[in-house]
Formats: sequence, structure tokens, C-alpha cells
Amino acid sequence: MIVLQTNEVTKKFGGLTAVNAVSMTINQGDVVGLIGPNGAGKTTFINAITGLNPPTSGKVRFFDKDTTGLTPEKMCRLGMSRTFQIPSPFPKMTAIESVMTATIFGNDSGKIKDPVAHSRQMLEFVEFPMEETVVAEQLNTVQLKRLDLARALASNPKLLFMDEMASGLSEGELKDIMRIIGKISKKGISILMIEHIMQLIMAVCNRLLCIQFGTKIAEGPTEEVANDPKVARAYLGDEEDD
Ligand SMILES: Nc1ncnc2c1ncn2[C@@H]1O[C@H](COP(=O)(O)OP(=O)(O)OP(=O)(O)O)[C@@H](O)[C@H]1O
Ligand SMILES: [Mg+2]
Repeated sequence: MIVLQTNEVTKKFGGLTAVNAVSMTINQGDVVGLIGPNGAGKTTFINAITGLNPPTSGKVRFFDKDTTGLTPEKMCRLGMSRTFQIPSPFPKMTAIESVMTATIFGNDSGKIKDPVAHSRQMLEFVEFPMEETVVAEQLNTVQLKRLDLARALASNPKLLFMDEMASGLSEGELKDIMRIIGKISKKGISILMIEHIMQLIMAVCNRLLCIQFGTKIAEGPTEEVANDPKVARAYLGDEEDD
């Protein structure tokens, strides 16, 4: 079953075309890796799909609905959720309170009878390494990303976007996140993850999408895209520029 389909999604900022006519598909059960050099348009693509910064043109289809340009709140209620490259939590809230905001917002069906217990389960599920009463402003980036993930899962999404969940992780923490992504996928949640760490991508993604200068240059099975000379060139070009 097709979960998400984009048709020529384009996002322009003035004269800059950050995302250029990207068409792609996410199927039920997919863990798709979105790769590409810095500034390629990866985050902008997710922002366009999830409504944070709607597309200039093109269409987004989520299951049987045209969701192009809907607000993030609507997307969330339909079953899309995301984490952020730079998490921006409510700084004065505790971890459990932060997760509860999403639990309660996502619970418009009233299915969750005990929002505290549900939020606690989310923190346990992502193996949150601190007490639930810790205040967000006391967390480091790695801990904040884990909290952000618990928050994203609390609204029971069908499709989860993750934006560089693993940046700055130690080897041990990388193993943890691989296991957690495996658990998310097992729950039946489809995933699109922006990631630079090849070790993680190769371990968890069944398909990859590579964009460069806003344009799709490869899409397909992980091994195939990872070994595509065009993809290697995109990254090498990036290094030469640096
Ligand atoms: N709100 C905005 N206004 C203007 N330009 C923007 C805006 N957001 C992103 N851009 C530009 O769009 C391009 C794509 O940026 P984007 O953040 O999507 O890249 P990325 O692939 O996520 O990069 P990274 O790997 O560094 O996170 C960049 O040139 C960026 O400067
Ligand atoms: Mg980005």
C-alpha cells in the first residue's frame, strides 16, 4: 500500500529553488533514507510535505487524500509526525509534560484513556535516558532528540519523518538508535529519515532517495543507490567545495 506520494514537489525561496520537482513514493513498512549533501534541500522537502513550509507547486498525497498545503496540525491529526534537525522543546516543561502535549493533541479520537501512562510509555519506548521529571532546558542535544522522538510518536503517527536523529551520537548511542528505529518500524509506522551516517542508513533503510541541489538524482533499493556513481559524485563534490 502506498502511504505517501509526492508529485513534482517544488519549493522556492525567492530566486532560490530549494526543492525542484521531486516525485517519490513511500510504501507501507518502508524505512526510506533521504540523503544528499549539505544544503541539498532535504529539510525543506520534509517541511513542504508536512506543511510547515508548504510547496510552491506540486502535489502531496497521503493515503487517499490530497494533503498539499494543509497545516502541520492537520497533517498530525491525519497521521504524519516528525522530529526536527534542531529540536526546540518547551524549555520549562518536564519531559513527561512535553510528551503529554502531543499525546493530548493527537488524541482527538479519545482512544487514549490515560494520557500520562501513554506519555510514560513513549519515553520508555525511546529509551529516554533521564527521569521523566527532568526539565527540557537541562537536556543536552542527544537527550533532546530522544525527547523529540517520544513527542513525535505520542500522536500515534502512521508516517514518521526524522531529520538527522543520529548526528553527534557515540558508537553505543548509534546502536541504541538503530534498535529504536527497528522497534518503530515493527509497530507498523513507515519512516522517512534524513541521515548522513552511512552505517545507520545501511543498517535500517530498505530504500534510499538522494537529492542534490534540490533535484532527485537517485531513488531505489539501499544498496543500489549507495553504490550509484552519481550519488558518490554528489558527496565528493561537496567535499571538494569544503
Ligand atoms: N526559510 C528559508 N528561506 C530561505 N532559504 C532557505 C530557507 N530554508 C532553507 N533555505 C535554503 O534552501 C536550501 C536547502 O536547505 P535545507 O536546509 O533544506 O538543506 P538540507 O539538505 O536539509 O541541508 P543540511 O544537510 O545542511 O541540513 C539551502 O540553500 C538553504 O539555505
Ligand atoms: Mg537539513
